[in-house]
Amino acid sequence: MKTRTILALLLMLSVALVSCVKDTVDVKYTTYTDEEYQAIAAVLDLPNDRVDYDVALPQHMLDLGMVPPEINNAKATLGRVLFYDNKLSRNEKVSCASCHHQELAFSDNKPFSEGFNGELTFRNSLALGSVANFKSSYEGGVGNGIAPPSQQQFFFWDERAHSIAEQSTMTIQDDIEMGMDLHELSGRLAQEPHYKVLFNKAYDTDAVKPHMITDALQEFINSIVSTKSRFDDGLAASHGDVNRDFSNFTQQENLGKTIFIHHCSSCHGANMSISQEKLANNGLDMEYTDRGVGKITGNSADNGKFKVPFLRNIALTAPYMHDGRFATLEEVVDHYNSGLQNHPNLDHRLKAPNGDSPKRLNLSNEEKAALVAFLNTLTDEELVTASRFENPFK
Ligand code: HEC
Ligand code: HEC
Repeated sequence: MKTRTILALLLMLSVALVSCVKDTVDVKYTTYTDEEYQAIAAVLDLPNDRVDYDVALPQHMLDLGMVPPEINNAKATLGRVLFYDNKLSRNEKVSCASCHHQELAFSDNKPFSEGFNGELTFRNSLALGSVANFKSSYEGGVGNGIAPPSQQQFFFWDERAHSIAEQSTMTIQDDIEMGMDLHELSGRLAQEPHYKVLFNKAYDTDAVKPHMITDALQEFINSIVSTKSRFDDGLAASHGDVNRDFSNFTQQENLGKTIFIHHCSSCHGANMSISQEKLANNGLDMEYTDRGVGKITGNSADNGKFKVPFLRNIALTAPYMHDGRFATLEEVVDHYNSGLQNHPNLDHRLKAPNGDSPKRLNLSNEEKAALVAFLNTLTDEELVTASRFENPFK
């Protein structure tokens, strides 16, 4: 009897203990104190519980040696707010998101974008969702040494910026894009109660400094990960073997994939995740009004060379090329099929076997349509609808 009572008591005690432990685990994770959250909620539609920006890469990317980005949530949250804030431009008219729309994989649907004063940018806005992830796809030469440093990608069409922080500094201070001085911007942001909270969470101080602004933007942009297209599903199901027919593809899409691997992957890469070639002249013109890399280096051998962009979400990022000259993917395919110009710097991969003239692919209409159908499988619906990337302003 006695032992049974003791046992029963012990049992009750342990149940009580367990529920106690469970209670602490169940306590809602809150990021801000009540006072802090009041300042946040006055202007921002951010939840007080945790928003996780740290997204894992799927196995088929890990198998390629890609290193998942490690995202600091407080910095990414601050970066997201900055990304959508018009205060970043001199007259408070444009934000980063004005030219990088989430629903368009963070690109713009115009050949050139409008800056803070209504003036147009020199080039087509680059999509921020065309890579699996900037950190793991661009920084191939660092980290795990995926791509040799010579194939490491940098930022802008001519790769003149070496990090997102550097790119952001140039963009914010650019006379056409945002026209704002970073020190002046720091002062502007430091006056806002919600930024006091956000900078404190991210950098343990409310003394806003220029490098914190660009570092936080970089953290947010590195959290943009595109891994959920039908192409990724197919690649995962075929254990990373891109050459096998994908079971989730139509016959037409598989045909398009074969054509892509044959004619396009030597530059754009077959797995859409790791860079094959960083810069090339793809024969758009005989004479380039925008000399691209040549304008930076002053070397005529670089004229007409531009970044080889990754092609994830390409169906969402029209118009195409550095000057947005092609409105549709059909026009792009026609260019590669029969429109290449014999520029002196035309890449050797786009030349006929004799090496003198541009290559003509002679694709049938059916093959051209298949190539476009394949490019359409690269769209990632999660990326363009994820609430963690949405405009946080009320
Ligand atoms: C007025 C339009 C405009 C605004 C505002 C703008 N961008 Fe851009 N962005 C562009 C254009 C155009 C390019 C390509 C420019 C070039 O290559 O010369 C670009 C390129 C980029 C790139 C390079 C991507 C790559 O693959 O190389 C990144 C990253 C980027 N922008 C992030 C941002 C961030 C962060 C902000 C806010 C601080 C911002 N942009 C504000 C138009 C804009
Ligand atoms: C020699 C390397 C090379 C090959 C091969 C190549 N491309 Fe490109 N591609 C480029 C470069 C460089 C650009 C950017 C050129 C520019 O804007 O001036 C580009 C741009 C594109 C774009 C527009 C991207 C954007 O964001 O605007 C698409 C789409 C594209 N290529 C598809 C293809 C297809 C399809 C094939 C095969 C038929 C192909 N490419 C073969 C180098 C290449």
